Amino acid sequence: MERKALYAGSFDPITNGHLNIIERAAKVYDSLTIAVVVNPNKAGFFTVDERVALAEEATKHLSNVKIDRFNGLLADYVNEGGFATVIRGLRDSVDFQNEMQMANMNARLYKGDTETVFLMGNPEYSYISSSLIKEVASLGGDVSGLVPDCVLTGIKNKLQEETK
Ligand code: COA
Repeated sequence: MERKALYAGSFDPITNGHLNIIERAAKVYDSLTIAVVVNPNKAGFFTVDERVALAEEATKHLSNVKIDRFNGLLADYVNEGGFATVIRGLRDSVDFQNEMQMANMNARLYKGDTETVFLMGNPEYSYISSSLIKEVASLGGDVSGLVPDCVLTGIKNKLQEETK
């Protein structure tokens, strides 16, 4: 049976921390879907289309990874997609607290035997988040090495558009 895993998030934008989790999970599962959550009440820095495009570009070297989007409950998307595993990354104990709560709630909502599987984040990226990347970049700081090159270019273009 195909081992299908899911890794969901805002990915606004995808970072090298996310990519590290994705590359490792892609080795363990037959297929890995990266799902960008669509939150109609929250305008992102990147649009959902842009986030999807950046995630596609950043993962194009991984043949068993595909990018999708979803809105509403994660558990509904998981139930419809028949994912056996939901991957989450843990950077620190704060993530653990939050993730435990979400995993337990989702476990009630999954219809099948879906398991949440945690991968420890690479310590090299343990301090980064998408918000911190955007804040530092928008104030002129160098975020190269922390995000894929396509994201670096995407952020530069976005910031230039904003100043026009
Ligand atoms: N490396 C770098 N950054 C990471 C990271 C990693 N390995 N893992 C997480 N992050 C960052 C993210 O970029 C994000 O940063 P930001 O807050 O600055 O944007 C932050 O850590 C939180 O990440 P995460 O916990 O994955 O949140 P998210 O918003 O990206 O995704 C969902 C959370 C989509 C899984 C969750 O909100 C969800 O399931 N939503 C659907 C609605 C639902 O079902 N709700 C009930 C849940 S029980």
